[in-house]
Amino acid sequence: MSDESPQVLISEADISQRVDELAEQISADYKDKGEIVLLGVLKGAFILLADLSRRLTIPRSVEFIAVSSYEDGDVPSGAVRLVMDVRSSIEGKHVLVVEDIVDTGQTLHYLIEMLKSREPASIKACVMLHKEHSTEVDVEIDYLGFTIGDEWVVGYGLDYAEQGRTLPYIGVINP
Ligand code: IMP
Ligand code: MG
Repeated sequence: MSDESPQVLISEADISQRVDELAEQISADYKDKGEIVLLGVLKGAFILLADLSRRLTIPRSVEFIAVSSYEDGDVPSGAVRLVMDVRSSIEGKHVLVVEDIVDTGQTLHYLIEMLKSREPASIKACVMLHKEHSTEVDVEIDYLGFTIGDEWVVGYGLDYAEQGRTLPYIGVINP
């Protein structure tokens, strides 16, 4: 990453307000469904998952899964690979996949299809950012934070070669 600080694209306040709205909507939608499993996709979703999970007003548990689809930096490596699986069965559970960003859509598509085969009661996705114009694979995003352009963003869990992940805002970099 260059020496310059990333340029603010979405401020901390705007993120916070949007996460409030998403949490309210999700809480309302799942109100009568019992417990939901928040399935965070590591590493990028860890901050969204932390913020979202604490704002929900419905029973919820937290699980993590890790996939890898990129080399260090922004050069795609091709296939999506499962690096770490969930620790308990999701069969019969209401699962909400929590993901940082949908770019080509490969990662979310792969995950949803893989998880569906385990027969959850339902499966939906909550995604912070969508690079609409880069998306190649059809994926359904049930809860979306923001739509952004085709630029590399860091912060709020997102990184560039592990840099910028813990910035409180979402910023654009020129790698
Ligand atoms: P997809 O499979 O192409 O949709 O890519 C999804 C994954 O690529 C995300 O989970 C991120 O880990 C990574 N990614 C894509 N775009 C960005 C970005 O702008 N900043 C940081 N990570 C990104
Ligand atoms: Mg990710």
